[in-house]
Amino acid sequence: MLGAGEYGRFDWCLNLAAYTNVDGAETHVREATELNVLAPGYLAAACLALGARLVHVSTDYVFGGGTAEAYSENDPMAPVQKYGETKADGEESVIQANLATIIARVSWLYGPSKRCFPVGLIENFKAGKPLRIVDDQRGVPSYTEEVSRMLLDLMEANAEAGIYHVAGSDAVNRFEYAEAVARAYSRATGAAKPEMTPVASSEFPTPAKRPDNSVLNTEKVRKYTKPHMPIDAAMDSLVHRVLEPT
Ligand SMILES: NC(=O)c1ccc[n+]([C@@H]2O[C@H](COP(=O)([O-])OP(=O)(O)OC[C@H]3O[C@@H](n4cnc5c(N)ncnc54)[C@H](OP(=O)(O)O)[C@@H]3O)[C@@H](O)[C@H]2O)c1
Repeated sequence: MLGAGEYGRFDWCLNLAAYTNVDGAETHVREATELNVLAPGYLAAACLALGARLVHVSTDYVFGGGTAEAYSENDPMAPVQKYGETKADGEESVIQANLATIIARVSWLYGPSKRCFPVGLIENFKAGKPLRIVDDQRGVPSYTEEVSRMLLDLMEANAEAGIYHVAGSDAVNRFEYAEAVARAYSRATGAAKPEMTPVASSEFPTPAKRPDNSVLNTEKVRKYTKPHMPIDAAMDSLVHRVLEPT
């Protein structure tokens, strides 16, 4: 067992590790619970013991939809699938272990470094595949570059403990999100905007249910930081980085 001094001194711990396979969590509940509930609790306790603060990343999927309103930090959690249940339990576990924790709920992340909704779409645009996209799930797409900066701002400001919604500027449904990617793709390549067809989620049955609305209200976090990139500007940056990796 390592003593506190052997970890080296650090002021902040940012927990991005999680079991993130939303459909997989329906059948891998034990693994999802270990990673999303137990591990964050141990980390929170370790941070308390070491005098460091923890930023624990959570999700918009702690909410279940069934409302048209954006969710605030104080709204009751009501996940509609196992992944969201384990993330909601994880929030309670870090708070129980360490009241100084910051819980940062992020949503619909996209960035150039790994496969995500826009990167998958761009591959399909290049292949000229016809696409059908659901238009009955609403959320806030969030560019990882922007979310990273917002998380750093919270740490640099030594923000008050508690829950924060850390997300982008624009609430859209998935079809509107895809349209933003298609517009950016067209601007970057000069090609005509790829055509897509909006469809209902019922046309793509998945093991785990998705909320019809998980829009995060980001009012609270704006005391410390704010999203500054409208979705079209963020998408231009993403498409540029995907098409011309440096
Ligand atoms: N992506 C989204 O749209 C989204 C939306 C809302 C919330 N979130 C939250 O954002 C955070 C980051 O998600 P992400 O999308 O970046 O997920 P991700 O790509 O699946 O990354 C999860 C990370 O957890 C690590 N990890 C998994 N199992 C581990 C284990 N047993 N021990 C140590 N590390 C392990 C992975 O390491 P390896 O790479 O080595 O496997 C990976 O670095 C999570 O808390 C997630 O719940 C994501």
